Amino acid sequence: MPEIKDDSGDILPAAAEIPTAMEQVLFGKYEVGKLLGYGAFAKVYHARNLRTGQSVAIKSVSKQKVLKGGLTAHVKREISIMRRLGHPHIVRLLEVMATKRRIYFVLEFAKGGELFAKVAKGRFSEDLSRRYFQQLISAIGYCHSRGVFHRDLKPENLLLDENWDLKVTDFGLSALADQIRPDGLLHTLCGTPAYVAPEVLAKKGYDGAKIDVWSCGIILYVLNAGYLPFNDTNLMVMYRKIYKGEFRCPKWTSPELKRFLSRLLDTNPSTRITVEQIINDPWFKKDYKHIQTSSDDLLFDFKVDDD
Ligand code: ADE
Repeated sequence: MPEIKDDSGDILPAAAEIPTAMEQVLFGKYEVGKLLGYGAFAKVYHARNLRTGQSVAIKSVSKQKVLKGGLTAHVKREISIMRRLGHPHIVRLLEVMATKRRIYFVLEFAKGGELFAKVAKGRFSEDLSRRYFQQLISAIGYCHSRGVFHRDLKPENLLLDENWDLKVTDFGLSALADQIRPDGLLHTLCGTPAYVAPEVLAKKGYDGAKIDVWSCGIILYVLNAGYLPFNDTNLMVMYRKIYKGEFRCPKWTSPELKRFLSRLLDTNPSTRITVEQIINDPWFKKDYKHIQTSSDDLLFDFKVDDD
């Protein structure tokens, strides 16, 4: 691997600083542009492939943190899995590069930005909520069938492409993000565990597929309601609400969706709905259209609306 000299161990010294001319070009291949996102262990930049002009997102991760967490083998495994994932609703890992200090994940660029930036402006109709949920489950089911679990589904991992279709990002890599955080808890960027399944909070050990389904339930609720089902400014109070699993739906939620949400947000992982049951549920299947992705993706077909 070629090396770029970066004493700070970063592409850019700090989020707000202007990069130097050298720092702007990664391995002579990508022109690095503006910061797209910033987390505890990684920064994501927009970049342009100098030869093809293609836009990409580059996620820069500290090797030191990976080493400290004893996760080198895990990272290598996740990378090899990510490289093999190819699905219309998953951000593709295009290549991985490294310097002495950092690993750079070159990702497909999702032009539409975060889905939840759109929800923040209101809420989605039940049909639109269903459409995004179908796309999300299509991606989740595809990955589960390959033994890959997201384990950290949350708003900033749901992006939109230029056609306003969903792209889940960080599949397989986000587990790494959580494990290398000092307190070992799952967090969103702003530190809220609002999307985390009760069994994860209880630190009892968990099934990766079941916790992804719970997070999908929270996401569906937020799409339809415009706010979280379990929320409080006091974290302990929020935890208690998550453990209890009691939530109320807004008046516009249909009885069918309420029933479906109660199956997703079942605090008992052994009775919680599975992905296979989700794709056979009448609420989920409404307006379902088959789209051929690639021959081996047919198991988890998804639908899009014509409008
Ligand atoms: N933010 C984080 N990852 C991204 C991506 N792949 N495309 C656009 N914005 C992002």
